[in-house]
Amino acid sequence: PSLEKEFLPMYFGWFLSKRSSEILRKAGQAFLDELGSLKAFKKESKYFASAIDDPKIKIDLTSYFVKRPPGVLHCTTKYTEFGKAAGAEEYAQQEAVKASYGKGFTLSISALFITTKTVGARIELSEQQLLLWPGDADKILPTDNLPRGSRAHITLGCANGVEAVQTGLDLLEFVKLEKAGNKGEQVGEIGGGKLLYFDNGMWMLNLSKKIDVRAIFSGYYG
Ligand code: 2AM
Repeated sequence: PSLEKEFLPMYFGWFLSKRSSEILRKAGQAFLDELGSLKAFKKESKYFASAIDDPKIKIDLTSYFVKRPPGVLHCTTKYTEFGKAAGAEEYAQQEAVKASYGKGFTLSISALFITTKTVGARIELSEQQLLLWPGDADKILPTDNLPRGSRAHITLGCANGVEAVQTGLDLLEFVKLEKAGNKGEQVGEIGGGKLLYFDNGMWMLNLSKKIDVRAIFSGYYG
């Protein structure tokens, strides 16, 4: 029996195919490039002070979000910390988790966003995908009550000194604002969709055409 107490991964999640990772990275790159040269963005560039070279030319967001995930991209479902995290065993033992392990999925990316700390892709999970979503993930504060799957995202980059866990918390901040009735200021259409500004350096591009990515549900062992 001691052998059967499985060794849990650092985290469970959907791991994008190499091709889908490349497509999403490119979309993220195009978003940062376009945003960085947008007049409305430059007006608010004080939030990204370290990226300002000559504000008349371009804010270099690519070098601002200097920490980028190596290899294929992923969407964390449950951070299990090799079994040490709260609810890790319970999550791993769920039927849906066991049945889906190693299976292929198509994830739908509905938006790209940046804050002063992170850049990420927002995922709209299907009912079936929500079965793999942990019950405790969609909170910043214990009292938060947000729709299941609100936090679902793919980290594309982090600013210097910021850990990847921040991306999901940043996305939850957007969702909290939306829930409070703040729809953001519509700045205009840029390549790919409608750009919204939520103040404090929080920008979201709602994609007019969702990006579908292929991914395998699995565990990452480090
Ligand atoms: P991410 O899902 O926002 O990218 C390894 O650190 C991976 O686990 C990263 O992808 C990271 O963030 C995620 N992660 C790290 N700590 C976490 C935590 N406490 N809760 C949820 N996800 C976490």
